[in-house]
Amino acid sequence: MTLSTSPIATRLEQGCAVITANNPPVNALGHAVRAGLMAALRSALADPAVSSVVITCAGRTFFAGADIREFGKPSQPPHLGKVLDLIEQADKPIVAAIHGTALGGGMELALACHARVIEATAKVGLPEVKLGLIPGAGGTQRTPRLIGLMAALDLVTSGRHVGAAEAKELGLVDHVVAADLEREAIDYARSLVGKPLRRTGELSIPACDQAAFDQAAMRIIGRARGQLSPRIAIEAVRSSATAPFRGGLMAERLLFQELVRSDQSRALRHAFFAEREVQRAPQLASATPRSLSRVGVIGAGTMGAGIAMALLDGGLMVTVVENDADAAARGRERIDGLMARALRSGRLSEAGRDERLKRLTVTDDFHQLQAMDLVIEAAFEDMAVKKEIFARLADVTPKGTVLATNTSYLDINEIARAAAGREADVIGLHFFSPANIMRLVEVVGPASADKDAVATGFALARRLGKLPVLCGVCEGFVGNRILAQWRQIAEFALEDGALPEEVDAALEAYGLAMGPFAVADLAGLDIAASRRRRLAGTRNPEARYSGAIPDKLVELGRLGQKTGAGFYRYENGARRSDPEVHAIIRSFWPHTGMSDTLFDGELLQRRIRAVMVNEGAKILAEGIVARPLDIDLVLIHGYGFPAWRGGPMFEADAIGLPQILADMEEVHARFGAGWEPAPLLKELARTNGRFADLGDGSSPS
Ligand code: 3HC
Repeated sequence: MTLSTSPIATRLEQGCAVITANNPPVNALGHAVRAGLMAALRSALADPAVSSVVITCAGRTFFAGADIREFGKPSQPPHLGKVLDLIEQADKPIVAAIHGTALGGGMELALACHARVIEATAKVGLPEVKLGLIPGAGGTQRTPRLIGLMAALDLVTSGRHVGAAEAKELGLVDHVVAADLEREAIDYARSLVGKPLRRTGELSIPACDQAAFDQAAMRIIGRARGQLSPRIAIEAVRSSATAPFRGGLMAERLLFQELVRSDQSRALRHAFFAEREVQRAPQLASATPRSLSRVGVIGAGTMGAGIAMALLDGGLMVTVVENDADAAARGRERIDGLMARALRSGRLSEAGRDERLKRLTVTDDFHQLQAMDLVIEAAFEDMAVKKEIFARLADVTPKGTVLATNTSYLDINEIARAAAGREADVIGLHFFSPANIMRLVEVVGPASADKDAVATGFALARRLGKLPVLCGVCEGFVGNRILAQWRQIAEFALEDGALPEEVDAALEAYGLAMGPFAVADLAGLDIAASRRRRLAGTRNPEARYSGAIPDKLVELGRLGQKTGAGFYRYENGARRSDPEVHAIIRSFWPHTGMSDTLFDGELLQRRIRAVMVNEGAKILAEGIVARPLDIDLVLIHGYGFPAWRGGPMFEADAIGLPQILADMEEVHARFGAGWEPAPLLKELARTNGRFADLGDGSSPS
């Protein structure tokens, strides 16, 4: 029976009812799908002509989970758990036929079936934890019964996708097929007719070493950086071994419902939808990307080599140009090193490496760039060097070749002018290090650039599987501009009675991946120092200077990890407190009248948040980005901002802008000129507005 309005259709084949869901794009288990499945199952189970059932999906994937857009709205029966109950308790064999990805509720549905047949290229997983949730339809209770507590703990708390072969090895699925999934699933279901059915909920959990479980749980909590869902997931998995199946299901359901309502899950759902929305830049709606197959990279230092590797991973022909034969040889070694590391970690196969090497040329012949569709300059961060390169590029490459700079701070308008006659082709592509790993790319479109050139850079980043955030030209673009502001607040804290360890710990407690001084040591103190020198002429003379302590460290040759000492000292790679730095910092305290009894971590967190949001408000008001979600994603993906806070702009809306404004006024009162609240923040706070009202619209909850 097929209802034309239902996303579910059933057909009978050799006594097997094949129930097919068709709910594009990813067969999310929304209300209509659950209701349709329930009806189709009931009628198949009641039909004497049906002796077995296969559940499968049309389109690109098996069910990718519950419909995330329904979270936060009143839930409509039938609940997924009820559908899964009906499946598990059925007296006819029911088999899941999995292609694409069986995720979250989709995976849980498969676990409730009596067997699972999977295509060799398909993946399964329980990614709810990444949305601030835990599986809510039996995933934490059925998974341990199939594969044991330790393996279940890993899947549920990491949210990782597991390939078909590994899923078979673990015992999550029963049969892997190379082709003809539906046929194989029907045969499998028919082979189970008349045999005792294996109901996952009735299996007993294999014995587990309690101490090993507890140790793994501690490691997971340590890595969670303040995120609640992994901690709750551990408890839910643990309860599968201590409570009977029904009790465990109920406990899981209650925890799930609590998490759905939590601020953290709302924030992570915002981040999920924002990641998809950011790839549709409204400014480029009418632009057409140029064709792209050959990409040049100038410079094979750390950044250039990483970019080359990312381009090779993206299937492009890559030509890397260095100054001379020696530098080219060193560049080649660097890229080989990245390949070797990828091989060791299992991210790359030997065949994959050999295929990539065929697409790579490393040369000192600049003229080879004339055959490229796009060139990325990743040379030394110096305006004179960049200008010379762009002047040469304008000569060597034909009109229409996109010329991109990977600068992180320098003025792209000035760089574009150096490419005389070719300003329309010049854009910025700001990759983050290591470029083959980090997903964020700031795609910078100067006013002089042709929209199609910008769209080409944007399309390239997408092709590489990156998250492109489109922004306009300004000092530091989005991420480094915001970082430069809040880093000053952290530096003031040192002058005013705090030690680097205290500041870093306070901000790590806020959820940042790494405190600002640990990051400064990693990046090199000389980078920020040279920026301070460059901007010295334009600095507001009224504004308090924050760079005195780092300037002193640079003067002493303490440039960070690369010299073994910066804000900390480093022994065999391990970071240690350094009494020498403490003495230097203390020597500043008499000047500011401060002492080390005054440090207040929570006050610092509020100041840093206010300053991030304030700068974000300026960036929005200047039209540097189109939406607040662009800023949120830059901070989350490039600067270790905790995704469970949703990004600074989302968090500001959630807290309420009057509070953020009050915090910013406190910053202004404390630090004076240069720290005035942004007009947009003041305006929105006054009118009870939200940044999201400015055209975000990505998050339905
Ligand atoms: N609910 C609602 N919409 C979803 C969705 C879901 N579970 N999964 C994806 N979508 C939407 C996306 O927002 C996107 O919409 P858009 O075109 O309007 O932007 C569209 O489907 C396509 O998604 P992608 O762009 O991400 O497509 P990809 O092919 O790159 O990836 C995917 C497909 C791997 C399935 C990826 O979308 C994904 O990881 N989805 C989320 C899976 C997930 O987290 N499932 C768990 C949900 S919670 C749950 O199941 C609770 C349960 O335990 C009770």
